[in-house]
Order: sequence, then structure tokens, then C-alpha cells
Amino acid sequence: MDLDLKSKIKEYYGGIASKVSESSQAGCCSSSSCCGEVSKSSILYHGENLSSLPKQAVDASLGCANPLLFAGLKEGEIVLDLGSGGGINVLMASKHVGKSGRVYGLDMTDEMLALANKNKVSMGVSNVEFLKGYIEDIPLPDKSIDVIMSNCVINLSDDKEKALSESYRVLKAGGRLAIADIVHLREIPAVLRQKTSMLCGCLGGTLRVEEYENILEKVGFKNIEVEPVHIYTKSLIESTFLKDKNLSKTVEGVNLDLLDGVFASAFIKAVK
Ligand SMILES: C[S@@+](CC[C@H](N)C(=O)[O-])C[C@H]1O[C@@H](n2cnc3c(N)ncnc32)[C@H](O)[C@@H]1O
Repeated sequence: MDLDLKSKIKEYYGGIASKVSESSQAGCCSSSSCCGEVSKSSILYHGENLSSLPKQAVDASLGCANPLLFAGLKEGEIVLDLGSGGGINVLMASKHVGKSGRVYGLDMTDEMLALANKNKVSMGVSNVEFLKGYIEDIPLPDKSIDVIMSNCVINLSDDKEKALSESYRVLKAGGRLAIADIVHLREIPAVLRQKTSMLCGCLGGTLRVEEYENILEKVGFKNIEVEPVHIYTKSLIESTFLKDKNLSKTVEGVNLDLLDGVFASAFIKAVK
């Protein structure tokens, strides 16, 4: 376990969680989503009823696609969200599984867990629990989960094979994996891989599509699909990343020509 990388990631996401808490308390804007610009969350979660969620859960949204689109959640299912952040995916999933189901959110960052618990209370849901821990060492028993989802987190792991084998361990037989993540389609220039902002901002630690498929197969998954859905062209980066306070930090000082078409958000599906 790379403690140095983990502490950098905790510091980065802890800072974002604190800013969302503080700025919303002050009644001010915390992200682009409430400042009259196009909301990243409203694009990502197009069709979902975001107004039924606490504002701070939406403001803290840091995903790269919507795993609920392909998770196929059903009433009564037990779901685990890896790297749950401020809780947006967990709180949305809680509506799909209903009172007879349960949704766990797992995160390693205290400030994110505090924000997620605050959002849980303000939404008044009883079928949700946020757990502190690492996705590489999931604090849940074997074969206890129907669906594992995750949104833009596996790329941050320093041991992706361990995180995915832990996912396999806690899933019941026939359980589903529904992960939204970033992958790279072309080799990442070495100079960018080293940048802390790229690593913490979900771009420096991605896998190639084939690497993802190979790891999933190695840890035991079947029916594997890794499908790139949005390619991050230079113009897309300019029109989205540069307009979002958090994302713009990721590409600060980076020659955007080097990034053109290298990354894509992807839907990752597999079955135990
Ligand atoms: C990019 S944010 C995504 C948050 C959330 N999934 C969303 O869609 O808004 C990444 C989150 O994963 C957490 N995280 C990163 N690496 C982790 C690890 N190895 N174990 C547990 N949590 C992790 C961070 O603390 C952060 O809250």
C-alpha cells in the first residue's frame, strides 16, 4: 500500500469536502453547479431527479459517469459503493433498492465521510450506511453484496488488482459489478503520470481497456465489458475541465495537446 499516495489523495478529497461544507454553510456557491454555469452533475446524472438529493451531495459530486445507468438496481438489493465521497451515488441508489434493500458507501477520507453522513441525515434515509476503510481491504464479509458500483475511484487505487479481488470476494454468486471509471486509450506521456494533480484528479493512475479486462478476468469475473463512453478530446477538456474549479486544478500547467484523446470515461460491467 502506497501510504504517500493515499495521504495525498486523502488531503486532496478532504479539502474538497471541507470546501463544500463550508461554502454551503455560508450560503454561497461551492462549485459550478450553483453559479449559473452548466452543472457537471446535471449533465452526468441526466434524467435522475437530483432535486430530491441534499444540495451538498450534488455539490460534492466528483464522478465521471453515472453507474446507476447500468447497475440495474432492484428493490431489496444490497449495494456497495466504492469511494462514496459525499454520497451522491449511494443516496440515489437508496431510492432504487427501497426500504427492504441496503446501500453501503465505503470511503477512506474522514471529511468525505462526515459530509456523506450529514447528507444522509438531511435526506432522512434509513437504508444507508457509510463505512470508513480502503477499497483494497473492504470491511464486509464474503458473499454479502448483490451489486458493487463505483464512480471514478478505481483509477486512484495503488493496488487495483487487490481492490477488484476484494470486490469479487464480497459479491454473492451472480453479483454484479457496475463501475464508472476513466481509462486511457493511448499511452499517457510519462511527464504527466508523475504529476500529483493528475493522479489525484483521476487521470494519472488509469488503466488501458485491455489491462482492466485482464485484471477483472484474473480475479475471477465473467461477462466482462469495458466500454469507453466519452473520449476526452482537447475541446471537451477546454469546455468542461477548465470551467470547473476542481477539474481545472487537475490539468493546471499541462499542455492540453498532450491530453487530446488520451482518456475516456468508461462503463465497466462484470458478473461473479
Ligand atoms: C473522485 S472522488 C469520487 C466520489 C464519488 N464516487 C462521486 O461520484 O462523487 C474519489 C473518492 O474516493 C475516495 N478514495 C480514493 N481512494 C480510495 C481508497 N483506496 N479507498 C477508499 N476510498 C478511496 C476518496 O476519498 C474520494 O472520496
